[in-house]
Amino acid sequence: GTGAFTYDPGFLSTASCSSKITYIDGDEGVLLYRGYPIEQLATHCDFLEVCYLLLNGELPNKVDKDKFDWTISRHTMVHEQLARLFQGFRRDSHPMAVMVGVVGALSAFYHDSLDITNPEHREISAYRLIAKLPTIVAMAYKYNMGQPFMYPKNALAYTPNFMRMMFGVPAEEYEQNDVLNRALDRILILHADHEQNASTSTVRLAGSSGANPFACIASGIACLWGPAHGGANEAALQMLIDIEKDGGLAKVGEFVKKAKDKNSGVKLMGFGHRVYKNYDPRAKLMQETTREVLAAVGAENDPLLKLAMALEKIALEDEYFVSRKLYPNVDFYSGIVQRALGIPTSMFTCIFSMARTVGWIAQWNEMISDPEQKIGRPRQLYTGATKRDVVPMAKRK
Ligand code: SDX
Repeated sequence: GTGAFTYDPGFLSTASCSSKITYIDGDEGVLLYRGYPIEQLATHCDFLEVCYLLLNGELPNKVDKDKFDWTISRHTMVHEQLARLFQGFRRDSHPMAVMVGVVGALSAFYHDSLDITNPEHREISAYRLIAKLPTIVAMAYKYNMGQPFMYPKNALAYTPNFMRMMFGVPAEEYEQNDVLNRALDRILILHADHEQNASTSTVRLAGSSGANPFACIASGIACLWGPAHGGANEAALQMLIDIEKDGGLAKVGEFVKKAKDKNSGVKLMGFGHRVYKNYDPRAKLMQETTREVLAAVGAENDPLLKLAMALEKIALEDEYFVSRKLYPNVDFYSGIVQRALGIPTSMFTCIFSMARTVGWIAQWNEMISDPEQKIGRPRQLYTGATKRDVVPMAKRK
């Protein structure tokens, strides 16, 4: 047992590590950050409050929160040299390719002055990453659009600052929308951490060698990009757009049939999960947030939401999905709501990486600060050739 939670020995043998940060009960569809249910955090807190919680283990009081917000705001700018790095990319590069490169390049600006055995150095690395990811994500978008980079404005809170860097232009003042900003804040909370998912495990394994935390976060971004992981939000929206183009609600049954056929190469993107064998609690909250945002932008009748709801209904009544315990996951609705926020499809996984950075760095810090920590070294079952001698080239057939 591990305190409040007990595990059966079989599960313990599959666990890659122990952690105090996030708890998932896949059968019950429960997600806790430091013991707090995701539903309550998404309702009562803002994203930086949840960042403080994930990093420190406790929710901040007002004084600590104000100090944390101020500190984060002082790290939002990136080195001016970093801005030049974007010039090396084609304008039409996928923004995630830019993110992997630029976030990895942050190592070049901090590596020499960073001692990861020093808790203060680890803390400021966490602040720098949480603060700079929105700036870099917005820069990737602006570079792709051919518009000038917008500098962060410290008088603005985290998500208004980001939305202005994304959609503001020097020619005029950006008009903030509080409903959209609050919705984005909730979306970031829902994506902040998720136990030992593929990208977090990547960050832990990279970090276990003592590598620079900025390079480790870049490795997490690379892993998150995959369509089976964070890239699923982009793929799920594209799936909905394609069904809409192909005939919309009338074609849902046909699509679900294809998704059940192994040979079709088609999956119901945004459905299924390695751990949740019940409804992903984040998907429920994402659906609610989607409705709020669509109402705020006057798009209550967005056909893609109707399509997603119809797909969900059919799948949840279909033996193939029910028998395999396949439910909507965090990515199923996230594309619809991000599109309604004005975020282009190619940027969805960048938003996911911006949110998950706090989870990655909190878990990296938990690992590095453990004095017992050793370099990760998974083993394998060898199924290759048995020992044999090299035949010189002249004698090879
Ligand atoms: C994220 O790990 C995390 O926590 C990740 C994440 C996080 O916050 O970090 O939650 C974020 O990555 C969410 C998942 C996003 N990915 C997708 O939505 C892509 C579509 N989903 C599938 O690719 C799949 O469900 C996975 C990758 C998510 C899980 O892969 P598994 O473990 O192979 O899937 P499973 O065990 O749930 O599959 C059981 C069966 C298999 O068929 P059989 O071999 O039993 O016949 O269900 C099938 C799968 O082929 N299946 C699907 C399906 N997902 C699984 N069939 C159709 N459509 C699907 N979406």
